[in-house]
Amino acid sequence: MVRPATAVTSAVLFFVHASAVITLPPGANTGQNLLPNIDDPNAVNAQTACPGYTATNMQTSNHGMTATLSLAGDACNAYGTDVDSLDLTVEYQANDRLNIELVPSHIDSTNSSWYILPETLVPKPQSEQANADDSDLKFTWSNKPSFNFKVTRRSTGDVLFNTEGTVIVFENQFIELVSSLPEDYNLYGLGERMHGLRLGNNFTATTYTADNPDPLDVNIYGFHPFYLDTRYYEVDGDGSYTYVPADTADASKNYVSRSHGVFLRNAHGQEVLLRPDNITWRTIGGSLDLYFYAGPSQAEVTSNYQASTIGLPAMQQYWTFGYHQSNWDWPNWDTLEQVVANFSMYAIPLETMWSDIDYMDQYRNFQNDPVNYPYDQGADFIDSLHQNGMQYVPIVDPIIYYPNPNGDTADYAPYDRGTEANVWLTNPGGSVYIGAGWPGYTVYPDWHHPNTSAWWLNELALWGQSIKFDGIWIDMNEVSSSCVGSCGSAYVTQDAEHEARDFEVAADATSTASYLVTTPTPGVRDINYPPYVINHVQPGHDLAVGAVSPNATHIDGVQEYDVHNLYAYQETNGTYQALTQIIPGKRPFILSRSTFAGSGKWAAHWGGDNIADWLHMYLSIPQALSFSLYGIPMFGVDTCGFEGNTDEELCNRWMMLSAFFPFYRNHNCIGSIPQEPYQWTTVTQASKFIMGIRYALLPYMYTLFHDAHTTGSTVMRALAWEFPDDPSLAAVDRQFLLGPSLMIIPVLDQGATSVDGVFPGIAQGEIWYDYYMQTEMAVEAGVNTTLDTPLGHIQLFIRGGSVLPMQQPALVTRDVRNSPWSLLVALSGNGTAKGSLYVDDGESIVQNATLSVDFKANTTDTETGSASSSLYASVSGDFQDTNALGNVTILGVSSVGNVTFNGNAVGSDSIAYNEESKVLIVNGLLDLTQSGAWDQDWVLSW
Ligand SMILES: *[C@@H]1O[C@H](CO)[C@@H](O)[C@H](O)[C@H]1NC(C)=O
Ligand SMILES: *[C@@H]1O[C@H](CO)[C@@H](O)[C@H](O)[C@H]1NC(C)=O
Ligand SMILES: *[C@@H]1O[C@H](CO)[C@@H](O)[C@H](O)[C@H]1NC(C)=O
Ligand SMILES: *[C@@H]1O[C@H](CO)[C@@H](O)[C@H](O)[C@H]1NC(C)=O
Ligand SMILES: *[C@@H]1O[C@H](CO)[C@@H](O)[C@H](O)[C@H]1NC(C)=O
Repeated sequence: MVRPATAVTSAVLFFVHASAVITLPPGANTGQNLLPNIDDPNAVNAQTACPGYTATNMQTSNHGMTATLSLAGDACNAYGTDVDSLDLTVEYQANDRLNIELVPSHIDSTNSSWYILPETLVPKPQSEQANADDSDLKFTWSNKPSFNFKVTRRSTGDVLFNTEGTVIVFENQFIELVSSLPEDYNLYGLGERMHGLRLGNNFTATTYTADNPDPLDVNIYGFHPFYLDTRYYEVDGDGSYTYVPADTADASKNYVSRSHGVFLRNAHGQEVLLRPDNITWRTIGGSLDLYFYAGPSQAEVTSNYQASTIGLPAMQQYWTFGYHQSNWDWPNWDTLEQVVANFSMYAIPLETMWSDIDYMDQYRNFQNDPVNYPYDQGADFIDSLHQNGMQYVPIVDPIIYYPNPNGDTADYAPYDRGTEANVWLTNPGGSVYIGAGWPGYTVYPDWHHPNTSAWWLNELALWGQSIKFDGIWIDMNEVSSSCVGSCGSAYVTQDAEHEARDFEVAADATSTASYLVTTPTPGVRDINYPPYVINHVQPGHDLAVGAVSPNATHIDGVQEYDVHNLYAYQETNGTYQALTQIIPGKRPFILSRSTFAGSGKWAAHWGGDNIADWLHMYLSIPQALSFSLYGIPMFGVDTCGFEGNTDEELCNRWMMLSAFFPFYRNHNCIGSIPQEPYQWTTVTQASKFIMGIRYALLPYMYTLFHDAHTTGSTVMRALAWEFPDDPSLAAVDRQFLLGPSLMIIPVLDQGATSVDGVFPGIAQGEIWYDYYMQTEMAVEAGVNTTLDTPLGHIQLFIRGGSVLPMQQPALVTRDVRNSPWSLLVALSGNGTAKGSLYVDDGESIVQNATLSVDFKANTTDTETGSASSSLYASVSGDFQDTNALGNVTILGVSSVGNVTFNGNAVGSDSIAYNEESKVLIVNGLLDLTQSGAWDQDWVLSW
């Protein structure tokens, strides 16, 4: 969380606490008042001011080429110092992946004029060294009028990226690359931000990790310099293709789409200007290390991006898909015990109890408040959770209390041990960097230091001896600091008793300071006030506000300016490694607020400090879909809303919506009204109802998640990704799919009792079944259907052609896993269906045995062509699951003959068939599958 949103009038930092008021420098968190470059009418246009480059010394091989780029005129030094010579490397890394890298030719390690992201921090993908001629991506270049290049799709000739008519600008603190784009292009990604799924053609995407409670359209916690570009083409009568703007599509015509992805492997603050016919990518340091992914489907782009480049998402433990309850306003263990008792009394599923910073002793990490959160009571509480199949996840921040050396509160062992191991970030001169945060003045672990991971592990492990957590929630890791610079350096000793307190930070810095624009001095790097001012969300757009400042220094001399966006990424890795030791053998569960490209290989993410309003409920969908593209499928938001008071109607709708997100947690801000689902009768009912469905579908969700973990497929999906040939879906983000088979259309408007939704694929013969009625929807193609959706209901549809593996709902996932199986088969228009199931022990990193089942149904014998309706289950793997098969429900059945299971007749009293609804239910399978539903291959015929 950030501080509560209370109005603060004066531009100073306040600590509001009964016992102490900390002394901070005046204006401690206000920073300089900078005008962001994009709003500055006098800003230099680097495109007209700068000379570009000329390529020479071209060397071409089968796998790519290299060249030297020299400045094609006088240096412009627009926002830094021009680099006079660059090395260009173009590599066909795979048939569907191309790398274009531009780095300064002479990297002088003693002069930190520029910083190239090392592979030790952010690995590069392995090159398969494809042959240029085999790649679907083609690189061409020209020196006229200065060096420019194109990336085209070889199979179609589509120009994917084209810098013709622009100059490349490469300075120590400013890089600019411009490409033309087709009219009304569809771009997705470039997060993290609160925005619709499709970015639009007139938008500026600024990225720099920031502790900020989900304001719209600006940079927030995470950093993902990746976009997906989807283009639609009309298929003409002669088989040729014509590009069309998605929004002009006409339902009577035929279209196809092709997608590609672009990743800029660069960790500096960035700004991407999306304009009607071009994209301008700017960064304030590093190099140009671009990766193109050919697709041509979104699924191929996303999978390639993860599998080759950033890493596949971590597999999660089964329990993490249960329901999580959190609140930043639980004053003691008694309250948590009462919450658990309430869930039990109302028989609402509860899987995991969370602790926000309430539990800490004066907001110090790794220490419980001895009065309200004593260790012995905690041990008993967590023990009883574990005995009842539940878990406990507490928060830990990377902001570490710095004891006043002259005070009487200097006894803080985690700090002492960290100091001994020398693990804190420092000031440029070598003194410890002392910022401010929840505990008062704070220091920050330096993840570049070889001792830091071991210190972090040790602190978590020591504390974990008393508090047997099941996962760790890492917050404030942008990394947040509530004052500018090392504010504690001069004040910490003057403050007699600085210690835990609430504090608030002035956000109003606009009143006094005059605009400060730094004029670049050749050869000098100004990291405090970089000459190019990104439109950073914090007051004054100052990079030093709300975060550890850019000049904080790591043990290897690297400054935060160059690695700020990687702070959480490294902390997440450190936490992952620690959890593998503290909870040996089990998949670490980590929830991180700040993320970088690749954080998904270790952690889950939640949407941060959202607001309890309808807009933020809607925005949770595009936010989740964006994180599908970023390879962080374990995503959810603070259900019912974090800041501000929720209400019964909103919380009802939101509890139902979030039930279809992989990570399902209700969390609340201090000072807001309580919002556990039992606070209102209608919310209790709606939650129990929808959790019953979610829990029954957990085998489907877990299987999807395993697919994501092994192949880079997505869990929550945009309609446009599953139905790529329908341009009208390009911006749809008010409804979504869970995997390929379930579509959710939530009510997102206050007071509404109906919702409009589209049913994709109808014109191509797709059919959709209502999940509750189990009947086919009679809907038209390409139009909105209005669906009656009273409070307490959410629209849920099964796609024809699906087989959904299910179990019985229960109050905890442990009991779901021990219940009989069932299958829900939804036949397609031509009577077929398929699906799969993955089963393992649900927790181990390394599995001794796993189980996979493929399901296939058809209603025509493929060999004889005769009518024969069967569902086949083909089992592979040795994992022992002894739960029997309870029943099979088949939707869309037009006739029923003899029902047999592996040749054994199923008694007629075990069969229910409704000719009108076309639903066939086959019960009575328990006896036939006593040793387990997946003990052997089987066939069910009807
Ligand atoms: C683009 O956005 C800017 C700033 O929001 C606005 O002033 C301008 O009119 C927009 N241009 C177009 C073509 O929509
Ligand atoms: C990009 O497009 C914008 C608006 O269409 C235009 O003003 C600008 O000059 C273009 N940039 C370049 C480098 O062509
Ligand atoms: C470091 O950055 C802070 C915040 O911008 C600034 O106040 C301080 O003067 C800087 N220190 C040095 C040595 O540049
Ligand atoms: C993660 O941490 C481990 C252990 O410290 C280290 O070996 C590995 O290189 C790190 N991975 C990344 C991508 O930083
Ligand atoms: C359906 O309604 C939504 C608004 O709820 C609208 O954005 C969308 O364009 C409509 N789709 C069609 C196919 O009419």
